Parts: sequence; structure tokens; C-alpha cells
Amino acid sequence: TTLLSGQVLTYSGDPFETPWQECVHIDSAGAIAMQGGHIVAVGAAADLRQAYPQATEVRYGDKLIVPGFVDAHVHYPQTGIIASWGKRLIDWLNTYTFPEETRFDDPVYAREIARLYLKLTRQHGTTTVCSYGTIHPTSVDAIFEAAAESGQRIVAGKTCMDRNAPQDLQDTAQSAYDDSLALLTRWHGVGRAEYAITPRFSPTSTPAQLDVLGALWAAHPECLMQTHLSEQPDEIAWVKSLYPDARDYLDTYEAHGLLGARGVYGHAIHMEPREMDRLSDVGAAAVHCPTSNTFIGSGLFDLASMKARMPVGLATDTGGGSSFSMLRTMAAAYEIAQLRGTPTHAAQLLWLGTAGSARSLHLQDKIGHLGVGFEADVCVLDLASTPAIAQRSQRAKDVWDAVFATIMMGDDRAVADLWIAGRQVQE
Ligand code: GUN
Ligand code: ZN
Repeated sequence: TTLLSGQVLTYSGDPFETPWQECVHIDSAGAIAMQGGHIVAVGAAADLRQAYPQATEVRYGDKLIVPGFVDAHVHYPQTGIIASWGKRLIDWLNTYTFPEETRFDDPVYAREIARLYLKLTRQHGTTTVCSYGTIHPTSVDAIFEAAAESGQRIVAGKTCMDRNAPQDLQDTAQSAYDDSLALLTRWHGVGRAEYAITPRFSPTSTPAQLDVLGALWAAHPECLMQTHLSEQPDEIAWVKSLYPDARDYLDTYEAHGLLGARGVYGHAIHMEPREMDRLSDVGAAAVHCPTSNTFIGSGLFDLASMKARMPVGLATDTGGGSSFSMLRTMAAAYEIAQLRGTPTHAAQLLWLGTAGSARSLHLQDKIGHLGVGFEADVCVLDLASTPAIAQRSQRAKDVWDAVFATIMMGDDRAVADLWIAGRQVQE
């Protein structure tokens, strides 16, 4: 048994539904006990020391013990082109993304970037990501293998594209089906891995490809399905021209069996009322990618309205997003919510990047919360990690005031320690 003691963050509800003061708690003298990769007790440090006298204790003092961050939408193959200048979505894909993604037919390169990517995210306190691969099955094997090496829970899938992409980045309807099925069979439910069926977005799939992926999902409803939705106005206009019969962007998925409760829709910024209604009706999730939305110039996600209607995850969208850090991502979510006149509290931001993201991926019983029975993925935050943050947190009127300064100004230096499945990560 291992005890981690310090200031411990726990949830007893959703702070977007219940006032955060009632459902987000920080125990300033708390602890968690871990055994066999799971959390077995959470409570006052003094009580847990009594209950587990033989345990090894790691004392974190006034550091904040939180669930490992959950990044609900990323493209690990875009690690090497993160922060590339000056383009908006379609040009950005053609100029930076597609050329880099062609490199992932090389399994050696794919393995190198998969390992590098996961290491970078761990350094930023992220313990689970939901990632797109490229069209190459080797890229998907690479990220699942790298996650298995580090013991991380992971969701990933082969990106499917059979039009409007460079020739060597296209599959076909049939090969997308066959390759996705083979990968799903190889990886879904193996260790901590889960497979997500992954059409990139409507413009790069023919209706025939969307159809077969809808059929694959119907045959494997245990899998998630991830894709992009209504990110930029130009993209939406393009979708309209490619699918003239569709009622709206979401309808291009709905018509092909790609709308469902285990659907995870990235961005979802420029939503028609019908799209919001349908996502809400079926219980699907949207994923907010705030640094991406400002970096690529996509628009201002309406967190308050969307969250009131459906599960919402938080994500970096590496490498459309400009940071690997979920703290930076929470800060950007705060800023976008400010621009929309709906300020979010630090407790809501932390919840969104942990329990909220876990819920969007249907992993809310396993990760994203420090509760008994949960997997022991734990991040330890230093609330005074830089001189700039330290001088501010010295003046903090309470712990939340200090936490907010770390959210707004923190980065990988704020991550004092990390545990994955109860094992300390030593990079
Ligand atoms: N839409 C389709 N593909 C992508 C991608 O790779 N990144 C982002 N941000 N949007 C997309
Ligand atoms: Zn994306």
C-alpha cells in the first residue's frame, strides 16, 4: 500500500450542475491509499495512516493532489508540427498536417513520435489521451504499444480518409473497414486500451466510407466513435457543397450511422439548433479544444450552453492546439468563456480536464476522480512552481485563489509528481 498525503481534490458531483462549493472539495490534510493500481481509500491523512500502518507514505505537504489529466481529443502524429504559423483549418491541414502524417507509414518513426508524445504529455500531468492516428495501421499500433509500455489508459483509432487528401494519405472504404476492424480486434479492451472508430471528418470521407464505418460501429457498439464537427465556417460550407442533401454538418454523420451515445465530436463550435438537439437527444459528447480554436482561428465554443445539454470534454487538440498542457488548456477555456460572458471557476476547469473529459469518453467509472475503486492515475501540482506564480499564491486569499493562478500561469513545471496505475512515473 502506498499513501499519498497533501491537499487532496475530490468531487461529489458535477460543478456545472451543482454549485461548485457543494461538489468540489479540497482536503488540506488529506490522503489517498493505493493498492494494486487502484485507489482503496480517500480521507484525512491521520485516519489513513492509522488504517494502513504498514503503508509507505509520500508526503506532498501543501501540494495539490489531483486526478491525472484526461485529454479527450488529440492527434499524436502532429506532435512535430505543433505551433506552425499562420494558417486556418483547411490550409493548415494541407500545408503542415498532411505532409507530416504521410511519414507515419514508417513504423520506426511512428514509434519514436508515439513515445515522445506520451512522454511530453506525462510531463504535463496528462495520464490519458484520446488520440487520432494517421491512416496507417502502424501509427495506431505505435501509440497503443507506447501506452502499454508506460501503463497508461488510452483511447485511439486509425484515421480514415478516402478523398480530399494526398494520394498516399488515402485509404478506401474497404481498407478503412478492414484495417479498423483488425486494429479494434487487436487492441480494444487489451490492458488499458480502448479503440475508437475514427473517420477524420466528412470532407475527407466518401459517403461510402462513412457508411461502412457506421456499419462497423453498429457491429462494435462497445467502441467509441470520434470525429470532427463544425470547427470553422469555411469547413462547414465545404461540407454543405460535398453533401448537398444533408440538413446540416451533423446530418452527414447521422445519415451514415455515425451518431450515437458513444460518439465523441471534436470542436462543435458553430452549431445549428438541430445539431445541438440531436447530440443531446442521443447522449453524445462534444469536446472543447480551446487553444486550437484560438490558434487556428476557429471561433468561441459556447461551453455554458453545450455543457447544459451534453457531456463536454476538454482537450488540447495537439497539434492544432498550441500546447501539450491541460493547465494551459483550462486557461484558454477560461478566456473563451470570459469572451462569451460566462466565467468558469477554477473548480469547474479542473473538473472539466479530469472527470468531465473522462465522462465524454465513457471512462467516468475508471479515471478522472480520486475515489475508491478508481484507477490510481494521480498528478501532484506545485501551487508555487515559478517565481511569478509563487508571489501570486503567497497573496492568495484561499486555496482556490492559488489554484486559479496555477491554472492561468502554470505549465509542466507545476507538475511535481505523477502516478500511473499506482506506480510513480520517473522520466
Ligand atoms: N479537422 C479535420 N482534421 C483535423 C485536424 O487534424 N485538426 C483539427 N483541428 N481539425 C481537423
Ligand atoms: Zn482534431
